[in-house]
Amino acid sequence: MPILKVARMGHPVLRQVAGPVPIGSISSDKVQQLIDDMIDTCREYSGAGLAAPQVHVSMRVLIMEIHQNPRYPDAPDLPLTVVVNPQVEHLDPTRQMVWEGCLSVPDLRGQVPRSTGVRLTGLDRHGKPIDITLRGFPAAVVQHECDHLDGKLYVDRMESMESLTFLGEFERYVRPKLVEEVNEN
Ligand code: NI
Repeated sequence: MPILKVARMGHPVLRQVAGPVPIGSISSDKVQQLIDDMIDTCREYSGAGLAAPQVHVSMRVLIMEIHQNPRYPDAPDLPLTVVVNPQVEHLDPTRQMVWEGCLSVPDLRGQVPRSTGVRLTGLDRHGKPIDITLRGFPAAVVQHECDHLDGKLYVDRMESMESLTFLGEFERYVRPKLVEEVNEN
């Protein structure tokens, strides 16, 4: 199955508001192939999630999956979740600061304020309704992927550019502190 090329920051497709998928076309070969290719592409590049605009398709489709991810070794597992026409409801006003990266903004990490809990609704790849609640890092992932569908990147959400860090420096100077914090708690 083809690994798709990932659009990088600056490509106009990342700034478009993606269009909804007509319910009747979810089962089409085109949409099903897109979903399969997004899964392969996300796994190939060790993404925690991927939105269709990132593979140059301006449609409201996202996938998420976290399982022993080398780019996010501290993240909890999240089973493969495919959502068509997703909607996110913020469950509480509490914000968490999350270190995020993005396959469209390669080799960088930055801290982004995100809701600690969200309700995610939409349709799965068979057109069946999804209604799940996510907290912590997975909640941040879904907010990040839904932002892609509205033409937003995580860097737009950063309150300060001070935390913007290259991945190599993140591994060297930031992750050891995060691991310490986890061990202390
Ligand atoms: Ni992203």
